[in-house]
Amino acid sequence: MLAVLEPWWGGFKGADGARERALLLPRLYFQHFTDTSSLVERPDGSLAAFLVGFLSQTDQATAYLHFVGVDPALHGQGVARSLYEWFFGRASELGARRVECVTSPGNTASRAFHDRLGFTTSPVLPDYDGPGLDRVAFTRELDDSG
Ligand SMILES: CC(C)(COP(=O)(O)OP(=O)(O)OC[C@H]1O[C@@H](n2cnc3c(N)ncnc32)[C@H](O)[C@@H]1OP(=O)(O)O)[C@@H](O)C(=O)NCCC(=O)NCCS
Repeated sequence: MLAVLEPWWGGFKGADGARERALLLPRLYFQHFTDTSSLVERPDGSLAAFLVGFLSQTDQATAYLHFVGVDPALHGQGVARSLYEWFFGRASELGARRVECVTSPGNTASRAFHDRLGFTTSPVLPDYDGPGLDRVAFTRELDDSG
């Protein structure tokens, strides 16, 4: 997964962005959040897409989508929507009633995608993840369709 972060994000935010993304995926996600995360592989075993998510321990009505990526060769075919719908179902089963996630304000693909999936978007939150690391936050209630 670390190997695809640069090409799949198209060099977004340069070397700093690549470092930021790599630090978002320490091994603990693949040890402690496997029931709410998913990998999609092609028949030859190469990575096609991934989603890393979990349930909040602090607020059990909230599920959090930590990271998602789809191979650019597969964009626009509903792969991320399918992964999100799977996660919505999984989060509902586990008792969550809403899903939250964040992205960089300049990630226009992510913003458009979350908008299409029915998330509401916050204003830009300056320094949300540290100095210079602004974010926008997305929220979506899990209703009967989720
Ligand atoms: C954002 C991302 C996950 C979308 O994946 P995808 O598989 O192409 O998305 P889908 O095909 O499931 O699209 C679902 C909906 O979002 C819309 N959408 C997706 N990408 C879009 C874009 N770049 N611009 C406008 N709309 C977009 C689709 O048109 C579709 O709408 P519809 O179902 O109502 O027709 C993908 O572009 C990606 O991996 N980007 C790089 C990584 C990233 O930024 N991850 C998110 C932040 S952590």
